[in-house]
This record gives sequence, structure tokens and C-alpha cells, in this order.
Amino acid sequence: MRINKYLAECGLASRRKCEAFVTEGRVKVNGKLVTSLATEVDSRDTVTVDGEKVQPIKKHVYLIMNKPKGYVCTASDEFGRKTVLDLIKDKKERIFPVGRLDYDTEGLLLLTTDGDLANRLTHPRNEITKTYSAKVEGEVDEELIERLRGGVILDGVKTKKCKIKLVEFKDGLSRFEVVISEGRNRQVRRMFESINKEVVFLKRVAIGDLKLSGLNRGEYRALTPEEVNYLKLV
Ligand code: URA
Repeated sequence: MRINKYLAECGLASRRKCEAFVTEGRVKVNGKLVTSLATEVDSRDTVTVDGEKVQPIKKHVYLIMNKPKGYVCTASDEFGRKTVLDLIKDKKERIFPVGRLDYDTEGLLLLTTDGDLANRLTHPRNEITKTYSAKVEGEVDEELIERLRGGVILDGVKTKKCKIKLVEFKDGLSRFEVVISEGRNRQVRRMFESINKEVVFLKRVAIGDLKLSGLNRGEYRALTPEEVNYLKLV
């Protein structure tokens, strides 16, 4: 791209104003002074302004998807199963899921090119809540649910306190809303397994204040700038 566009993408100033950096002799490309506005550069070039290296600010992609069951959340699967990335059309960049939903779980999944945000959101110290709708067969004693709320041992470590509410009992199934602030492997399923209850349906419906609504299974959309800012600040 043209040198002034490149400098503008580095966040220095508008394209117009960046022309002046070039004509004033303040710009070097790979160590060579350039003063022509016709200079073309690409990502392999090293560009300096007043001796300081400058780099384009990357515009990251942030997506929210309604993951269907029957998809894995890894880039490739050793068993050749479909991955959530197969659902993304027009992938120009290296985009990856933020955390995982297991193969049989559906619902809200974030995908991004922003490794920093993904790491922050999935870091064990990050306590952003994840809300799930979970169905189990039969009725469950309130005493057992209270045990799950207080924490149960999974892999030798107690789960953090969480919120669990019975939403309805219908067609022989109890539907719970489960709000956890951790993201351990198959956590909700394993919590119910610990009281001998199998989760037969699991869907993530929210991450923090971000809700899954208006997206059919397999659909996705870009997050709004407000939603991205919200995730960066939690
Ligand atoms: N808990 C589970 O059991 N599975 C998921 O995918 C997410 C949370």
C-alpha cells in the first residue's frame, strides 16, 4: 500500500497529514530515507518515523455465534469432526474460539483474532459469569442442588460457589439455569454427574451481560463496538 496509507493505519494521523511526514524526510523504509509519496510498502517492510518503528494497528475480528451441537471448538479435530470454524464464511484471518463448548453443547461462543482478549477472558482469574440452560432427567432434590451451589470436587479441586435455579419441570425433564464464573472442562455436565444426574441438553445463553439472542443455530454476527468494549473491561 501507499506509504501515507500505511502510516495512517499505524494511527499516526490522517492520510493527508501523514504525507507531510514523508515529504519532510522523517520516514525510512528498511533503513532508507523515502520522500516520494509514491513509495509502496507492505507488512514485510520495516518503517520508521523519526527513527521509531511504527506498525499498523490491527483491526481485530470479534464474532458471536450460536454454536450448534455436533461441532468441536478446535481448529482441526483428530477424529475429523466438524469444527466451528467450518461455519465461518469468508475467513481471511486466523480466527479462533474463545474457550470451548464441548461437542454436545450448543449456544453462545465468541470467536476472535484478538489473542489478548481471548487470553484475558479465559484466564482462571477472570470471573466473568457464564449462564447455561441445562436439562436433566427427572426431578432433583433441592438438597443435591444446594450441594452443587456450594461447590463439588472435580479432579481434586472444589468448584466455586455458583447459582442454580430450577426454571421448570416439563415432560419429565428438570430445566435449570446455572451461572458459573469458571470455565473448567465440561464443568456443568461433571457437576451434575457428581450427584448422579446426566445432563441431556446444555446450552450457553450468556457470557456476562452478553446474551445469545436473535441467532439461529450455526449463525453468527460481528459484535458491536460497545459489546467489544464491554468484554475488554470485564
Ligand atoms: N459445561 C459443560 O459441561 N460443557 C460446556 O461446553 C461448557 C460448560
